[in-house]
Amino acid sequence: MSVIGAGFYGSMTALHLAEYDIFEKVVLTDVVEGKPEGIALDINQSRAIEGFETKLVGQTTTPDGGGYQAIAGSAIVIITAGLPRKPGMSRMDLLETNAKIVRGVAENVKKYAPEAVVIVVSNPLDEMTALAQIATGFPHSRVMGQAGMLDTARFTYFVAEATQTPITDVKTLTLGSHGDTMVPVPSRSRVAGKPLSDVLPQAEVDAIVERTRNGGAEIVGLLKTGSAYFAPSVAAARMAKAVATDSGEVMPVCAWVDGEFGISGVYLGVEAELGAGGIRKVVQTTLTEAELSALEVAAEAVRAKQADVKGM
Ligand code: NAI
Ligand code: 2OP
Repeated sequence: MSVIGAGFYGSMTALHLAEYDIFEKVVLTDVVEGKPEGIALDINQSRAIEGFETKLVGQTTTPDGGGYQAIAGSAIVIITAGLPRKPGMSRMDLLETNAKIVRGVAENVKKYAPEAVVIVVSNPLDEMTALAQIATGFPHSRVMGQAGMLDTARFTYFVAEATQTPITDVKTLTLGSHGDTMVPVPSRSRVAGKPLSDVLPQAEVDAIVERTRNGGAEIVGLLKTGSAYFAPSVAAARMAKAVATDSGEVMPVCAWVDGEFGISGVYLGVEAELGAGGIRKVVQTTLTEAELSALEVAAEAVRAKQADVKGM
């Protein structure tokens, strides 16, 4: 199990993975000399308190691929390398810079962990996931992105707060892109088993949908530097756990869509069943007409941008 990028996202993800205590080791890499080694040492020292056996291995890598031997044979690689947003930036403003980083990382994953399932989190998410698949040449089922787990968690939290309901009694869903064309799905949302439309007025649902779409920017605006990493990291860690344990859990993820919803040939936020080989299958959720057409709009927006990354 390896995590590339030992920034806020990568280091928190490595911690969650280690605390699950299901991996022999978690390798954490970064290009900043000493950073992954230092974080690994720190997490390893927490093992005595939390009582888990998974060992963290920190490894600095160089631009020419030095150090990547550390990820050799990893069954799962999470790519978090890349810049986060600054206030006022859209995820798309990161496209060119992060494309260079993600392509370089993906080429090394292909070389050193050719059988891995890859989970991408670097932004802009849908485009970086497509790029990682192109650069690795792995089957689409073995390359996915994390966004839907996070966006759905945000939607769920906002609904739980608005309805004063325990969060475990609230179920929501978001599909589409991890960007302006995100598609929160109120028709699939339940509060203590009741449809969302029965417990909240439409205007309030609309406001929550809008806040969910801007969920990342809201946190960037508050932090001033860097972006969210607590909810994002646990989202990616849960996906890796589902793959590692071959659980068959259905999760909202960025997956290759090939005919589902009448959409083909694009990485898009959908529900999918996760197992040892990555994506077992995309699950075709029942949507209202408006939600389906929003998903089609998202697919076309992402398709255009994903075509651009081919040459990056
Ligand atoms: P960060 O700035 O704390 O960490 C990024 C790390 O990547 C740094 O330590 C940097 O040295 C490292 N890095 C840069 N180039 C590298 C390379 N070639 N190889 C290995 N490491 C390299 O940023 P943070 O908060 O960890 O976010 C990471 C990425 O995740 C950003 O692109 C951010 O936008 C994205 N993100 C995605 C979310 C999602 O839902 N998909 C949610 C939150 C963040
Ligand atoms: C988020 O949604 C910035 O993509 C990141 O928090």
